[in-house]
Amino acid sequence: MSDQVLDARTAPVATWQIVGAMNPEERAVWRMADIQNNVSAEERGVDKIPFAIGWYAACYSDEIAVGEVKPLRAFGKELAMWRGEDGQVRIIDAYCKHLGAHMAYGGKVHGNMLECPFHAWRYDEAGSVKEIPYARNIPPQAKRPCGGWPTEEGSGFIWFWYHPNGEAPQWERVDFPEVGRDDYTEFDRYEWIVHAPLQFMAENAADTAHFKYIHGTATFPDAEIKFDGIRRTGLVKAKMGTPKGEVDGEILNMNVGPGQAATRFSGISETLLIAGMTPIDHDKVRVRFAFTQPKTEAEGPMGGLARALIRDIIKQFDQDKVVWDRQRFVERALICDGDGPIGDFRRWYYQFYVEWNGRGPQAMAAE
Ligand code: FES
Ligand SMILES: [Fe+2]
Repeated sequence: MSDQVLDARTAPVATWQIVGAMNPEERAVWRMADIQNNVSAEERGVDKIPFAIGWYAACYSDEIAVGEVKPLRAFGKELAMWRGEDGQVRIIDAYCKHLGAHMAYGGKVHGNMLECPFHAWRYDEAGSVKEIPYARNIPPQAKRPCGGWPTEEGSGFIWFWYHPNGEAPQWERVDFPEVGRDDYTEFDRYEWIVHAPLQFMAENAADTAHFKYIHGTATFPDAEIKFDGIRRTGLVKAKMGTPKGEVDGEILNMNVGPGQAATRFSGISETLLIAGMTPIDHDKVRVRFAFTQPKTEAEGPMGGLARALIRDIIKQFDQDKVVWDRQRFVERALICDGDGPIGDFRRWYYQFYVEWNGRGPQAMAAE
């Protein structure tokens, strides 16, 4: 049978015809581009899907230097992030409480505070105005801490906490010990804008049937999927076709909350993928994939296979994107007996929605 084993490198899956014809440069542009002839979020039924609470990637650590101010659009909001002189990154709502200037455009770092470009009001990380250089008194309302986003740094990323009512973090984010180690490669990075809610991407791991049709795997992967509190893990053992024949591969993917996802691959080449997926709007997500591999494998005689593994994963994400960019949300999905645990996945995921059309997570999970 092994000559019939196909993998994503060879199978002519339907969506691939769209992307497969592009050269690598065209594909990199396509990943970030707006889509043509798109329909509204309302028509796709995604405009009311809430944003899920959790820790999310704001950017890579090296994308913001000390003294730098940057705009960030996330969760349907305009935000401003800056790195203070103490090296810490802070994120607050971008619009100034004074006359509404967007502080990420022209704003400056003053010590550890963000200074508005319009009249130099200075904010701390809680969104409280601490100084107004030309006023004797700060209006009490401006002093009120409001609009600050809990922000932390680790594993090569800036992470920030989302809660629709501004509540404090409910769990600790995870770090990945391989990142930054001398014997591991620097991040190999890829980026996409997916025109869909994050829930579509998260659901992919539980959707075992799509692997054959979208990704061209020879069989339905034998996935062991577990849901445990805020964590979800999926262990896939699959035969992988390689130039050296069939290899037993193991793929362990996990989520800690909806915004921190990682996958560890073993078999072909040890690989850690950290996936930072951050909603921009209800129908848009910024996705960052960062790969790191042991240098002995990536730079040794097996380097070709290590790179091919990354190429395959990227290609799989491209294939999924073709569907996600146009997919409609089916709230009461028509599941058949060959499908993966999509219902279980949704019940797990709904714990991160504080409220949806007036229903709390328990009511949603019970449906
Ligand atoms: S608008 Fe920001 S200081 Fe005036
Ligand atoms: Fe997929």
